[in-house]
Parts: sequence; C-alpha cells; structure tokens
Amino acid sequence: MAKQVLVTESVSKHFGGLKAVNNVSIHVEDGDIFGLIGPNGAGKTTLQNVIAGTYAPTSGQVFYHGRNITGLKAHQICHAGINRTYQIVRSFPRLSALQNVMVGGIFGARLTEAQARAKAKELLDFVEFPADPATLAMNLNTMQLKRIEMAKALASGCKLLFLDEVAAGLTPGELMDIIVLIRRIRDSGITILIVEHLMKLIMEVCNRIAVLCFGELLAMDVPSVVTKDERVLKAYLGDSLLV
Ligand SMILES: Nc1ncnc2c1ncn2[C@@H]1O[C@H](COP(=O)(O)OP(=O)(O)OP(=O)(O)O)[C@@H](O)[C@H]1O
Ligand SMILES: [Mg+2]
Repeated sequence: MAKQVLVTESVSKHFGGLKAVNNVSIHVEDGDIFGLIGPNGAGKTTLQNVIAGTYAPTSGQVFYHGRNITGLKAHQICHAGINRTYQIVRSFPRLSALQNVMVGGIFGARLTEAQARAKAKELLDFVEFPADPATLAMNLNTMQLKRIEMAKALASGCKLLFLDEVAAGLTPGELMDIIVLIRRIRDSGITILIVEHLMKLIMEVCNRIAVLCFGELLAMDVPSVVTKDERVLKAYLGDSLLV
C-alpha cells in the first residue's frame, strides 16, 4: 500500500455558524497529484488553510507522515515540509524574479543568502522561467508570476506542495505548460495537492480526487470513479462538465 503523506481525520472549521469544512477525512499518498475540487465556497481553501496552519481546526486532526501537526503554526508546518502557492499570487512587486524565489529559500529553508541565490537560479531553470531573473516582479505576466510562485514554494525544500487555482487566468497553451511543470515537480519527488476549478487540468494530471460541497466530503477516489459518482454528479458537476 502506498505511504500516506497527509491525513485529515474528521477535520472541521467553522466560522461562527458557518460550517466551511465539516468532518472531512482525506488522505494523500506519496507521489499523488491529488485534486481537491468543489464549487465556489465548498471549503477547499479553508481546508488548505487548516492543513497549512493558517487556521487551527475547530475539531479534528491533521497528520503529516504520521506526525500530528494539528494546531502547529504556519512556519512550523512549512519547516516540516508543506508549502503552498496562493489563489491570489503573492509576489513582492519591487523585488526581482530571482529575489522573490530567494525569499522562499531564506525564510522557508533557512538558507544563507548565497545558498538561496544558488538554489533560486537552479529553480528558475527547473520551472523554465523564460525572462531575465533580474526583472522586477511588477513587470512579469501571469504565467511568469506563477512560475515564480512555484519556484519560491519549492525553494523551501517542501515535500508536499499545495497549488491553489494555479491554472486561473491562463491561456490553453499556458495550461499545457503548467501541466508539464506540475508533472515535473511530482517526478522530482514532491507530492502535490491541487485545488482547481478547471476540470481539464484536474482530469489530465490528477491520479486521485476529493470532492467537497458545502464543507462536506462527497467522494474521494480515482478520477474515473469520482466522475461517475451519483452524489458528485447531482450535487456539483453536472454531466456536461465531465465529458
Ligand atoms: N475567514 C473567514 N471568515 C468567515 N467565513 C469564511 C472565511 N474564510 C472562508 N469563509 C467562508 O467559508 C466558506 C468556504 O470558503 P472557501 O474559501 O474555503 O471556499 P473555496 O472552496 O476555496 O471557494 P473558491 O472556489 O471560491 O475559492 C465560504 O462560505 C466562505 O465565505
Ligand atoms: Mg478557494
């Protein structure tokens, strides 16, 4: 049986009376490209925030490689090996592309400036950053910023990477590029959890999927099973989206 990298056990996060995430138990296995899907407001980002330590769960537990990480601070979880890109790209506009990636190495992996610079150069090559590394982030386009975001997250040395809506705003050609990059990251030994609306990307790259709806887990399985699940079809996707 594949090794379980991440396990959530009956995790809930309530905001007052709103059950943003309710009793969700998922497991992500070593080498997975795991898709977390569901309509707007389903609780996808909130679940990531609980796993990554932005929020403490209202109840339930989170395990990373068998270690209980529930309630640890975000920086502790980052140092444990989990990192993320954000739904809304968060770069430092007045730093260069290279410096943005260095931030990940310095704060995420406690590298020295020289080590972080070397690592950032290596990672800019890995993500095939197409522009001059000295370009200020404020002058980069969406796809370039996404590559920088991924390189910055990887600079922390993470072994589990969350990608939140990484395909939003990309052209079809850019989408294919990002699919290639996601696979390359996984093949380098990093397990990936993708939150995404775009079914084309999910179906193309994910080997397992969990579906959230109004904070509840509707299904978790391989794509071919999830897309035939009656509850998923009725509650969320609609058959037309799955062809
Ligand atoms: N900090 C917060 N305070 C109060 N309510 C919140 C907070 N964060 C999220 N919510 C609510 O929790 C629910 C789940 O939100 P969440 O952002 O996790 O959904 P999502 O699945 O990521 O949606 P989207 O696809 O639009 O990104 C929504 O009803 C949202 O309004
Ligand atoms: Mg979200």
